[in-house]
Amino acid sequence: MDRKQFLCVCLGATAVGSCSKKASTPTVPPVNLFTFITANLGTDLLTIGSFMQNTTQGAFVERIAIGNTPAAFRALSLRCTHSGCTIAHQASLQEFHCPCHGSKFLQNGQLLQGPAPRNLETFEVRISGNVLTVVG
Ligand code: FES
Repeated sequence: MDRKQFLCVCLGATAVGSCSKKASTPTVPPVNLFTFITANLGTDLLTIGSFMQNTTQGAFVERIAIGNTPAAFRALSLRCTHSGCTIAHQASLQEFHCPCHGSKFLQNGQLLQGPAPRNLETFEVRISGNVLTVVG
């Protein structure tokens, strides 16, 4: 891709003036997102600190603020960042513990104790009407 093509793709035809129609409308391949959790915000996750998890698919979502916007929720993967074991939520400690080699994570996903090398992965929260989905 030359400079002109790059600018056309990144800025659009109106920004650089002479891009071809094809170059100004780059095609983005559709992203097939997997839905890990579905919640009804009319009945689920009503209070700050309430949570849902799908241990089969390895996802956790917690309400962290008021309001039904994605920013009011935190969604995490339950797959340990060491070797992928499913971590267990320890609600009383507000932590996650890995049964395989002992890693621990805070409930916000931050690594607390290795051998896991990094924080838990996060998932995207989407809200449509009263329906929350955790996707990734
Ligand atoms: S897979 Fe979790 S500590 Fe090893």
